[in-house]
Amino acid sequence: MGLLLACVSLLLGVAKVRVNQHDHDTLYDRYPAIYQQVSRLALETFGNAPKVMSFGSSTGLEALTLAQKYFEKSVIVGVDVDEVTLSQARSTCANVSSRVFMFNGEKTALGALGLYDVIFANSVSCRHPWDPRPENVYQFSLFAQTIATLSEVLRPNGILCIINPNYRIEDTAAWLTHHYVQENVVDCGNFVRLFDRNGTTLPRRDLCVYRKTSRSHSHGTRGRR
Ligand SMILES: C[S@@+](CC[C@H](N)C(=O)[O-])C[C@H]1O[C@@H](n2cnc3c(N)ncnc32)[C@H](O)[C@@H]1O
Repeated sequence: MGLLLACVSLLLGVAKVRVNQHDHDTLYDRYPAIYQQVSRLALETFGNAPKVMSFGSSTGLEALTLAQKYFEKSVIVGVDVDEVTLSQARSTCANVSSRVFMFNGEKTALGALGLYDVIFANSVSCRHPWDPRPENVYQFSLFAQTIATLSEVLRPNGILCIINPNYRIEDTAAWLTHHYVQENVVDCGNFVRLFDRNGTTLPRRDLCVYRKTSRSHSHGTRGRR
């Protein structure tokens, strides 16, 4: 698998990847209500084995959760940029290693293993705790670039779950170019600070599940609360 990824990355080229969230905090079954909802939506759309990415996989507890509880027949791919946590993730997921893989997004192109039906990008597109010093601020441009890159590897009708972002996905170009709609959600539990693209603080909100669709945005959003 390692050699295959290296070859594909050379062919596709790896765009310059920058670190989003520096913190590696994670938990087993961290967002049960959302995992359950996304699993139901994905199984309805893609059958019993949707292909899943855990972007910002940290020590692998999210990938393990998904493999054991919500996507029991799926291939799960974890992506991180930190070698130490990646190596912990491989140990964490050793018992499910026939269908859970990890790679370093700084060394391997995000699309190296093809497209995904579901992408979880939870608690990765943010800085927490918030540090307002200019060198530590999470820039909107990095958020927008990350969403664009994820959108490229998400299949049409695919689901993007993004808990705890510092910015709104609808402020990015990907929202229009890839046509997303919001899915109704139970409770995202977002707690990090939310800003508009200019850095103005916004009220927190309970949105985190989006579907990539070919429909025009002139039809409005679905399931918005
Ligand atoms: C707070 S952890 C989130 C873990 C897990 N997603 C969860 O919700 O429990 C954030 C992880 O994202 C990783 N990360 C930061 N920038 C990244 C990037 N550009 N690509 C992939 N992973 C990244 C960090 O190394 C860190 O391990």
